[in-house]
Amino acid sequence: MKKRSRASAPAKVILVGEHFVVHGEPAIVLAIDIRATVTAEMRPEPGIHIESENLGVSGLFKGGEFIPERGGLEAKRDLEPIHAVAAEIISGCHLKNGVGINVSSPIPVAAGLGSSAAVSVASAAALCSLLGREVSSDEIFRIAFNAERIVHGNPSGIDPAISTYGGILWYRRSEAIRRLEFDIDLPLVIGNTGRRRSTGDLVAKVGMLRSRYPDIIDNVIRAGGEIVKRSIQALKEEDLESLGELMNIDHELLCAVGVSCEELERLVHAARKAGAYGAKLTGAGGGGCMIALAPPEKLGKVADAIRRAGGDPIITRKTDVGVVIEE
Ligand code: MEV
Repeated sequence: MKKRSRASAPAKVILVGEHFVVHGEPAIVLAIDIRATVTAEMRPEPGIHIESENLGVSGLFKGGEFIPERGGLEAKRDLEPIHAVAAEIISGCHLKNGVGINVSSPIPVAAGLGSSAAVSVASAAALCSLLGREVSSDEIFRIAFNAERIVHGNPSGIDPAISTYGGILWYRRSEAIRRLEFDIDLPLVIGNTGRRRSTGDLVAKVGMLRSRYPDIIDNVIRAGGEIVKRSIQALKEEDLESLGELMNIDHELLCAVGVSCEELERLVHAARKAGAYGAKLTGAGGGGCMIALAPPEKLGKVADAIRRAGGDPIITRKTDVGVVIEE
């Protein structure tokens, strides 16, 4: 057994299809070049010690109890998914001692970029490697997905999938995950509103609206699915203008199901005005982030417009590298 192991996994943006994916439609998701890193090591004391540098929280899970160190009892909520990953992996081993897990992640939290999934995936990979357990990517995905269910209520699985496999994925709950091998440059600017929100609450909000107005919302959801299919065609044809237009329509459908907000609207409209092909919220909405697809020469202008509209811009690119064991 190793003494220490380190793994990393990427953040994501959903190009089109969020929320509607929870209701059975497909979505297209991209891994982006911002990574969470997790280090796992053996500890002489029993229990699972977890520390998240960026969240400023830490504590020990031992014998069904949580003993906080930094961040008080509330830290438990942030650390619970990592604990769930660790508990599942350790349950198969007869460990006499404990393990320590350290998370270091520059991915903005609760912003729609899949930070908790990237951390769960990297934690699963680091721990399996530490304990000498050979696991496939599919098994890492399964373990991380189980942990995500604890924090997000009824997630589709899209976040742990992209952090595990990287690249561009076609994701639909009822189908096998499909990697899309488009060798296309997608110049993107992310705009972070800085407003944190809960994916679980927003997913529940759409579910509630659907149960009140099934005839209306089912049509919106179906239209969301059509947008994803047309977007595949636009990607195949490298037609970024049509892709931008489809992103704009998708955003308006997401407004219709109540998951946009004033801050997102400001950033989306600023990006479009600055010359983006298209702009939309990404992830759960209600705050969090938006994305703009723009011609490469306009990325700076779009980023400036997002900043002036009150957002925090990040110019980014897709990465094909999913979860990686680094040490
Ligand atoms: C969150 O990144 C995307 C949602 O569609 C929820 C999910 O798919 O689990 C809002």
